Amino acid sequence: MYKYPIIVFEGIEGSGKTLHVNHVSKYLKRKKIKFIRLREPGGNISSEKIRKLILSNKSNFHKITDLLLYLAARNENLEQTIKKNYGKKLILIDRFIDSTLAYQHYGMGIDYKFINLLNNFLIKNIKITVTFLNLVNAKNLRIRLSKRKNLNRYDKLKFKLYKKIQKGYIKISKKKKNKYVIIDSNKPILINKKIITEEIDKFIK
Ligand code: TMP
Repeated sequence: MYKYPIIVFEGIEGSGKTLHVNHVSKYLKRKKIKFIRLREPGGNISSEKIRKLILSNKSNFHKITDLLLYLAARNENLEQTIKKNYGKKLILIDRFIDSTLAYQHYGMGIDYKFINLLNNFLIKNIKITVTFLNLVNAKNLRIRLSKRKNLNRYDKLKFKLYKKIQKGYIKISKKKKNKYVIIDSNKPILINKKIITEEIDKFIK
């Protein structure tokens, strides 16, 4: 039905989303399914340049500047990669438009409608097929963050802020019509891998 879905993984730091994106990539390779993998901020060459700028510990941008940089990185992915491959290859993305609503609106307090307007202006008719929202409890979040070695600007956000952002994600998943699969990342990885693989199978068969 969805021959070439767009599959997105979302969640706060330490929620295990990148681990699952890695697992899904391996799974798709094993199945010989052609796909494009992106991450945001970053993704293609131009967006990765913007990623370095945003996440550098030396950067200290105003929150609106940050917002515009995230959107700039997204636009590079959309114009150079996503639009060209949409409907031709499966697209797997580690963070996408919901990250901007969760972090810049629910976290940083920038107007929801403004962000939505900009996101919609950029993505136009591109439709996300499924979003896996990874959730983590406070105890595991603390443990996982404390294990991180190379902290970027965002890994150092205040703990309370992560909780706010995660709550935001949950609100977004309830508000929007596209399909969300909630992954409880406090559960064993193998259980979640199975849930995710079974969901992905629905979209690639
Ligand atoms: P990552 O290491 O998971 O790729 O995270 C990059 C950071 O960028 C993460 O803290 C979330 C943040 N971010 C936003 O604040 N807004 C956005 O729109 C995106 C895509 C990421």
